[in-house]
Amino acid sequence: MTQPTTNKSLVNLLPQLVSTDNGLAQDVRQGLSQNPKKLSSRFFYDAKGSQLFQQIMELPEYYLTKLEHQILSRQRKEILYAIDTATPFQLVDLGAGDAYKTKLLLSELVASKVDFSYVPLDISEDQLNLLLEDLHHRWPQLPVTALAAEYFQGLAWLNQEKPQRKVVLFLGSNIGNFHLQEAQEFLCTLRKSLNPHDSLLLGLDLRKDPEKMRRAYADAAGVTSAFNLNLLHRINKELHADFDLDQFQHFAEYDPLEGTMRSFLISRKAQQVHIGALNETFEFEAWEAIHTENSYKFSLRQVEEMAQACGYRVQDVYTDASHGFADVLLRPVES
Ligand SMILES: C[S@@+](CC[C@H](N)C(=O)[O-])C[C@H]1O[C@@H](n2cnc3c(N)ncnc32)[C@H](O)[C@@H]1O
Repeated sequence: MTQPTTNKSLVNLLPQLVSTDNGLAQDVRQGLSQNPKKLSSRFFYDAKGSQLFQQIMELPEYYLTKLEHQILSRQRKEILYAIDTATPFQLVDLGAGDAYKTKLLLSELVASKVDFSYVPLDISEDQLNLLLEDLHHRWPQLPVTALAAEYFQGLAWLNQEKPQRKVVLFLGSNIGNFHLQEAQEFLCTLRKSLNPHDSLLLGLDLRKDPEKMRRAYADAAGVTSAFNLNLLHRINKELHADFDLDQFQHFAEYDPLEGTMRSFLISRKAQQVHIGALNETFEFEAWEAIHTENSYKFSLRQVEEMAQACGYRVQDVYTDASHGFADVLLRPVES
């Protein structure tokens, strides 16, 4: 299960999840049987999806990565000072992806000869293998344990196998993929895995001009569209389905009352789709939607309320120059 490569290893906990396909079949069966239909955004990131997400991060319209990159590049010294790098710790990166922005912190920590190890945790094993290779070239001496796992599965393993002070990163507004209530539940569950001397750096997209947000999720070049449609391609490939990708279209809209950007795949006509691995056929009406993603946009007051309700205090708030994105440093309160 563990493949050592010098001081870097990958621990794959995915086979322990409910089914051998990381829950994809179960999610697809449940999601397409309900009304309205939905698919979970956590399945976006197969090898092709991860590659498309990297292209999204480079799009002129996709401000999220640029704003958080600005925060971490300009304020990384303050952030690292605030988390206390004098005692050894694990830097646990939840949903690490390609760790593009985390590398700003890693380079600072390595240059300052801080005693820490890096734990990127992601449900995409492909993504972790690419990351391990990159980290091996950049920082051969850096100890890395990559965890291919669901968030809480990985954290439970870490607490059991390698208990140490933790600095947890949850960047890129990943928490925005939950409904507000789920986001709070996530923070409260996460709190149970943390000790008072641990920290959590939470990246959040803040409310702003709805047009700017809409363009970020429906770019002119059509990369977000390809990213969303890749979910159907993945289901075709892994679950032997026959989705005709030309007969579905990407649509994204912002709901200013809820503060949520929602993405959908819309069936252009009445059609049936057979999913071989499920031995089931699903009916789509013309213009029926599959809800594929929520991207919640926060106000700082909401973040503070959620944090308090779950037993954290807000230690610091770091924002970019336009106040469009925030990295909030939370500390568990002693209970
Ligand atoms: C939007 S990317 C963010 C990557 C990076 N943290 C950043 O800020 O750019 C989200 C990442 O979270 C991972 N992910 C999504 N759901 C997950 C889950 N339930 N458990 C573990 N990883 C998950 C995806 O595979 C993907 O690599």
